[in-house]
Amino acid sequence: MNLHEFDRPVERTGSASYKWDGTQETFGRGDVIPMWVADMDFPCAPEILEAFEKRVRHGVMGYTLRTPGYIAAVRGWFRRRHGWEVPEEYLAFAPPGVIFAVNVLIDLLTEPGDRVVIQTPNYDALVSSVTEGGRVIAENPLRVVNGRYTLDFDDLDRALSLPRTKLLLMSNPNNPTGRLWTKEELERLGAMCLARGVTILSDDIHADLAMPGYRYLPLPSLSPELARSSVLLTSTNKTFNLGGLQLATLVIGDRALRERFNRVMCRYQTRLDNLFGAIALETAYEKCDYWLDQVIAYVDGNRRALESFAGACLPQLKLYPMESTYFSWIDCSGLGKGQGLERFLVERCGVAFTPGREFSQAYSQFIRVNLACRRELMGRAFRQIADCL
Ligand SMILES: Cc1ncc(COP(=O)(O)O)c(C=O)c1O
Repeated sequence: MNLHEFDRPVERTGSASYKWDGTQETFGRGDVIPMWVADMDFPCAPEILEAFEKRVRHGVMGYTLRTPGYIAAVRGWFRRRHGWEVPEEYLAFAPPGVIFAVNVLIDLLTEPGDRVVIQTPNYDALVSSVTEGGRVIAENPLRVVNGRYTLDFDDLDRALSLPRTKLLLMSNPNNPTGRLWTKEELERLGAMCLARGVTILSDDIHADLAMPGYRYLPLPSLSPELARSSVLLTSTNKTFNLGGLQLATLVIGDRALRERFNRVMCRYQTRLDNLFGAIALETAYEKCDYWLDQVIAYVDGNRRALESFAGACLPQLKLYPMESTYFSWIDCSGLGKGQGLERFLVERCGVAFTPGREFSQAYSQFIRVNLACRRELMGRAFRQIADCL
């Protein structure tokens, strides 16, 4: 495969795609350019499709075990891509996905009324996992220092010391800003949580998509103490564009917690794997590093193209550095649209982005733009905005 493959249009309309077929319901228009939902417009790696075809020819789609090859593929991925030898016994799995597992863990680790610290802005499903479960959010807003989002450690100390704070729920990289937390940041945050006896849930689902020049560090890899007092959640979902297959991998260093988690998975009958999810994971982790590298190069090319177009034709937009994820996080307050921003973008410009308010009420003038799409489509979306101004 070469990078031009990603320029090839794939008709997603009519494929029951949430991103393409769901805009009428969510934005009130079926004909907008959809750059919202976090999946890629690219077909997945050919090796994965071949593995599916082989299984389809076999014909039997019965209940599916997690094989030694599957476990080796997960461990090999962590070792090769992130330099971490994950102990096999730390691994746990949640076929329904990361957010399902986050909900199970919140139930196991907290009681209704307990507090969960979360940095904002953050992925809305993480926030609602806390609030819908009757737990209380303690917000720890990120701060922009020299044009870059950073953790506010003084405020974190305040939030961790509130009565009934039991958990810290974070995304690494942060969704939507794309910040990949550095070793120093993770160590400082980890030490503060250890000192207060607060467990960390780190949702690292976007971590494989570090952009050139940036490196992801898994928090539990930093020390045995952090491995015991945290849970890392990840998946092939974002990395290999397999969102429709539902699957998650967890690293739970605390044996008692891991056993409790696995008992819940048995109770819900979610212990076994989704057959196609399992086939995809093993193939992807074993054979598709090259495909991910190409996606990263292509998305990074989109970022550069967008920065240069915005610099020349949309100077009102402020784009934040994209360290990881395929999202561009953009401050649109310079457009001067105020409360009318979303209507302007959808109704006048015909583009659908994820509104910043989904990640925090404080970000109503921001948009999160999904750049995992054809460059031509991205260019068209931003030209439409420039033409409307
Ligand atoms: C930070 C984050 N966590 C979790 C998910 C969803 O994961 P899953 O479908 O495995 O529940 C997403 C999807 O956008 C996400 O951005």
